[in-house]
Amino acid sequence: MALSLTPLTPGFVAEASGLDISRPLDEVSVRAIEKAMDDYAVLVFRDQPLDQDQQIRFAKYFGPLDLGLRKVKGGAHRFDYAELADISNVTADGAVAGREHAKIVGNIANQLWHSDSSFQRPRAKYSMLSAVVVPGHGGETEFADLRAAYDHLPADMKATIRDLKAVHYALHSRFLLGDTDYTEAQRQAIPAVQWPLVQTDPRSGRKILFVGIHACEVVGMTVAEGRMLLLDLLEHATQREFVYRHHWRVGDLVMWDNTATLHRGRRFDFGQRRELRRATTEEVQTSIEAAA
Ligand code: OGA
Ligand code: MN
Repeated sequence: MALSLTPLTPGFVAEASGLDISRPLDEVSVRAIEKAMDDYAVLVFRDQPLDQDQQIRFAKYFGPLDLGLRKVKGGAHRFDYAELADISNVTADGAVAGREHAKIVGNIANQLWHSDSSFQRPRAKYSMLSAVVVPGHGGETEFADLRAAYDHLPADMKATIRDLKAVHYALHSRFLLGDTDYTEAQRQAIPAVQWPLVQTDPRSGRKILFVGIHACEVVGMTVAEGRMLLLDLLEHATQREFVYRHHWRVGDLVMWDNTATLHRGRRFDFGQRRELRRATTEEVQTSIEAAA
């Protein structure tokens, strides 16, 4: 079988079928998925429940795996692999977390528009999120197209931001949510990094407006001016016409390119169980840095 694509939104999200991603994939299939990720930026695989081993095997075809925020606060983990992120409101012993549990802050932080691990170098390339248990209401995930966002910027804004860089910091979104209980060592575990606001994707050739909640300052501006500019750009990038909302079904795997999109979870009742599992690759090419 070969990969087959059905667009869900023109040029941004496609449903991918024809491949059994729980099985080992040949080179042709892997390259076809990468090409599809260039042509779109989000792929939806339906009815493909993966166990942990299968999810890790699938993710590794696309690069080395990222650990993300686990570098800051390790803590108890439910999975066999540190590289699998536990995107759930469930504690290590399998119970639904109480509202006060630290895990819930992570759930809420994921409801802010972000690009996974944009706060580190290398940053994340592909995230692959598999739905295990979904709530009856809410808990969708939205994706915003940062290529369309760039294309639709007014010319004067394009000129203003052309050579600007933003500072991305891992704990900025946590601090915003009042989650400040970190030691000095934890605060420095992932030092802030800078990324150009405007980037050209080396594979698709398209320009990208690289913003998101981890971006907290603009290099060369006061904190206030930079932060306001970033808020304006984020508001622009997440207008409805650039956004796709995914309604989860158990067994879905959604794959997105963090260098070309933002995403956020949507509200759900924290008393209801919601369990997803994510594997993420690191970006390996360095042309953004070369261009920076
Ligand atoms: C993630 C994430 C949002 C959601 O898995 O990286 O941000 O809807 N998820 O759970
Ligand atoms: Mn995320």
